[in-house]
Amino acid sequence: MSQVFPSVIITGTGSYLPKNVVTNDDLAKIVDTSDEWIRSRSGIHERRFAEKDEATSHMATAAAEKAITAAGIDREEIDLLIVATMTPDMPFPSTACLVQSQLGLGNITAFDLQAACSGFIYALNTGSNMLRSGAYKKVLIIGADKMSSILDFEDRSTCVLFGDGASAAVLEISEETNCGILGGTAGSDGSNPNLLYQPAGGSAQPASLKSVESREHFIRMNGKEIFKQAVRVMGQVSTDILNCYDYETEHIDLLIPHQANMRIIESLAKRMRLPMEKLHNNLDRYGNTSGASVGLALDEAFRNGRIKSGELVLLVAFGAGLTWGATLIKWH
Ligand SMILES: CC(C)(COP(=O)(O)OP(=O)(O)OC[C@H]1O[C@@H](n2cnc3c(N)ncnc32)[C@H](O)[C@@H]1OP(=O)(O)O)[C@@H](O)C(=O)NCCC(=O)NCCS
Repeated sequence: MSQVFPSVIITGTGSYLPKNVVTNDDLAKIVDTSDEWIRSRSGIHERRFAEKDEATSHMATAAAEKAITAAGIDREEIDLLIVATMTPDMPFPSTACLVQSQLGLGNITAFDLQAACSGFIYALNTGSNMLRSGAYKKVLIIGADKMSSILDFEDRSTCVLFGDGASAAVLEISEETNCGILGGTAGSDGSNPNLLYQPAGGSAQPASLKSVESREHFIRMNGKEIFKQAVRVMGQVSTDILNCYDYETEHIDLLIPHQANMRIIESLAKRMRLPMEKLHNNLDRYGNTSGASVGLALDEAFRNGRIKSGELVLLVAFGAGLTWGATLIKWH
C-alpha cells in the first residue's frame, strides 16, 4: 500500500537586498577589469554589497519579515527555522539562532545548513520533509549570504561574480492534493573540494598571521571546471526530477536556476531544449548571491506575476562541495 504524504506549499516569499549598488565600473576602479569583460563573460551588470555593520543575520531577518507578512501568519506559529548560509555571522552560535532572536520567534528549533549555492534548495527540501514528517507545522527557510565578506578584491577572476542578499519562504501543509512541492532531490560530491573553497578559518587551518597574509580567508575557485560541472550537473538533476514525476521538459512553465553566470544558464537551457523565455533570471542586477540566489529569483518571479496557480516550476542549483539540488513545484 503506497503512503500518501500531505502537500507542502509555499505560502509566502520575501527577499532583502542591501541598498549599496556596485556597478562593474565601480569594480574596475579597484581591480584590473572592465564592464565589457564582466558583462560578456558572466552577464552581470551590477551587484549589491552590504554595509560593514550589516551581517548575514540582519539581511536574513529582513527577508524573513517580508515572507512572514506575505504568508499572513503570526510569527509565533513558526516552529522550525532553517538558515542556509556559507557566510554565517560567526562560526557559532548559528546564524539561525541569531535570526530566531532578532525575529522574536520563541524557543523553536533553529539550525544552519551549509550547502553553499545549493543552500536554498537544500533548505526547501529539508524543511518540506520535516513538515511532512508531522513534527512541525510552519517552517521558515532562509538563504542568506554576505559574499562581499569573503571576496578577495585582488583576485579579479572571483570578486566580480558575487553579491550580497537574502531570501526566505514560509512552508505549510495544505489540505489540497496534487499541488505544492511535488518533490525535491539533492546530491553532493566532495571528492574535489578545492574547486571552490575558502582555505582558512576552519579547524583544518585556523586563522593565523600566515593565513591572513596569504589571503586564505577568501574564495578560491577553478572557474573553468566549475562552469563545466555546473551545466552537466544542473542538466542531469533537472532531467532526473522531471522523470521521477512523469513530466517532460515541455511541461515546465518556469525554470528558476541558480544565478551564477548567464553563460551557464544559457548552456543549461540549450542542453534542456528550453527557450530562454521559460527561465527567470536577475543575475544582471544582483550577481551570484550564493544561498540567497534561487529564493531571490523565486520571490521576484512570484511578485512580478510570472508564477500562476497550477503552473509547474522547477528550481535547480549547484554550488561548492560540490552540491546540487532541484525542487519541483506545482504552484497552488
Ligand atoms: C570565472 C569565469 C567567468 C571566467 O571566464 P572564462 O571565459 O573561463 O575566462 P578565463 O578563465 O579563460 O580567463 C580568460 C582571461 O580573462 C582574464 N580575466 C579573469 N577575470 C577577469 C576580469 N574580471 N576582468 C578581466 N579579465 C579577467 C584571465 O586572467 C584570463 O587572462 P589570460 O588569458 O591572459 O590568462 C568562468 O569560468 C565562470 O563563470 N566559471 C564559473 C564560476 C561560477 O559560477 N562560480 C560559482 C559557482 S556557484
